[in-house]
Amino acid sequence: MSQSGQLYASAILVKILVVGSGGREHALAWKLSQSPRAERIFCAPGNAGTEQLGENVPIAANDLAGLVRFARDQRIDLTVVGPDDPLAAGVVDLFEGAGRRIFGPNKSAARLESSKIFAKEIMRKCHIPTALAGSFSESDDARSFCERLQFPIVIKADGLALGKGVIIAQDCDEAATAIREMMNEGKFGEAGRRIVVEEFLRGSECSVHALVSGGTYQMLATARDHKRALDGDKGPNTGGMGAVSPADNWTADAQEAFDRDIMRPLVQGLMRCGVAFSGLLFPGLMMTAEGARVLEFNCRFGDPETQTLMPRLKSDLIELIEATIDGALEDVTIEWDQRPAVTVVLASGGYPGPYEGGKPIAGLDECAQLDGVHVFHAGTRRENDRIVTAGGRVLAVTALGDNVQLARERAYDAVSRIHFEGCHYRRDIAVPPVAGNIAGH
Ligand SMILES: Nc1ncnc2c1ncn2[C@@H]1O[C@H](COP(=O)(O)OP(=O)(O)O)[C@@H](O)[C@H]1O
Ligand SMILES: [Mg+2]
Repeated sequence: MSQSGQLYASAILVKILVVGSGGREHALAWKLSQSPRAERIFCAPGNAGTEQLGENVPIAANDLAGLVRFARDQRIDLTVVGPDDPLAAGVVDLFEGAGRRIFGPNKSAARLESSKIFAKEIMRKCHIPTALAGSFSESDDARSFCERLQFPIVIKADGLALGKGVIIAQDCDEAATAIREMMNEGKFGEAGRRIVVEEFLRGSECSVHALVSGGTYQMLATARDHKRALDGDKGPNTGGMGAVSPADNWTADAQEAFDRDIMRPLVQGLMRCGVAFSGLLFPGLMMTAEGARVLEFNCRFGDPETQTLMPRLKSDLIELIEATIDGALEDVTIEWDQRPAVTVVLASGGYPGPYEGGKPIAGLDECAQLDGVHVFHAGTRRENDRIVTAGGRVLAVTALGDNVQLARERAYDAVSRIHFEGCHYRRDIAVPPVAGNIAGH
C-alpha cells in the first residue's frame, strides 16, 4: 500500500468480529481493542473475558452461515478467525463471496493444516525439511510400511482431530492398533481414514508464527509451548498448559535456516501450485541435531502462544492484519517489547480428562491491578454477577519481565492470587528443557 494509502486507511475506524471462545481469542480481541482504530469488538461466541472488551454474540464458531449473516447485518469491517475448523470449512471463501473482509486462509490454503497429507506433499515438492513419511489410504499398506521403520514411529490422522490424532507407537502392535482404530474403525471419523506414518524426531519443539500474504511473509516473535499436563513434560497431552516467548531454543542460525529452507521455499511453492495463502501460518518445528524439521503447519494463531505473543506485540494488530489481507506486508515493520513473556494456563480439575464446570473464580480483580500482568479468559462465563469456570482450560495468565526468570516469578505470583475449586497448573512453565530432551542427546 502506498504511503498515502496507509494514511488514508489509518483514519478509518473498524468494527471487528473475533470468531472463537478461547484464551487465544481473548488475547486477539484485547490486542485489537488497543488500536485507536477499533470502533467496536464483537466476539462469537466469546467468553467472560471478551465480554469485557465489547459484546459477545451467541453464534457458534462453526456456524458459518450465522457468522456471515451477522457480519452483513452489523456491517462488520473486519473478521478475525481464531480456531482451525471454520477455516477448514471455508469461512473465508464464504465471507469473501459476500464481500466482507476477513483474515485467514481460504479453504484451499487451509488444507496445509486440515490435511497432513497435503502438507507433506507440499513439503516434498518444495524440499522442506520434515520427518520422512509415507501417506496411506489402505491400512495394509500402512502396516507393511511400519514394519520397515525403526521404532518409535509416529502415526497421524490426515484431518483435524482436536489435537488427538497423533499417536507415537513404540512397537508394531501399538502401530497396528492405532492404524486399525483410525483407518478401519473410524476413531476420528473421516479425519482418520487416511493417515501419515513418519519417523520419530528427537529434539525440542518451537512455535513460529508468520503473517503470510501470497509470496511474502513477516515473522512474529518465537514461542515455546508446554503441551503435557504435568511438570517435567509428564502426563497426558493437552491443548497447551503454558508458553514462553521468545523460545529459548531459537538462534540466529536457526532463523537464517528457517527463512532459507522453510519459509521462502514454502511461500514460493504455494504460489507455484496455485495456492494463495493469506493469513497466519504457524509451523510447528522440531529443533533436531540436524536442524529444524517441520512437524506440521497450523493456519491460525496458536493457543496459548497467542496469549504470550500479544502482550509483547507493540505494533497495531489491525494494521498488520489489513496489510496481510491487502498484500502489503513489505510496508510494515513489526515491533516487539524486548521483554520476554511467560504464560501459565489454569485448568479445571480433571482436565484434559472429564471435569466439572460452574466453579466460581476468585482473585480476578486483584490480578487485573498487577503491573505487567494480563489475565486472558478461556473457559469462563458470567453467571449473574460472578465469573465461573466453563471449560477445561480456564484462564491464561501472562506476565512480562526484564528476563524470563522475572517474568516467571511475576506470572506465578499472579496465579497464586486466583482460586477456583479443582484448579491445577504446571509449576515449570518457561523452565528450560532438561538436558535429556535437547537435540542430539
Ligand atoms: N515426527 C515426530 N517426531 C516426534 N514427535 C512428533 C512427531 N510428529 C509429531 N510429534 C509430537 O506430536 C505432537 C502433535 O503432532 P502435530 O504434528 O503437531 O499434530 P497436531 O498438533 O495436529 O496434533 C507434536 O507437538 C510433537 O510433540
Ligand atoms: Mg501441533
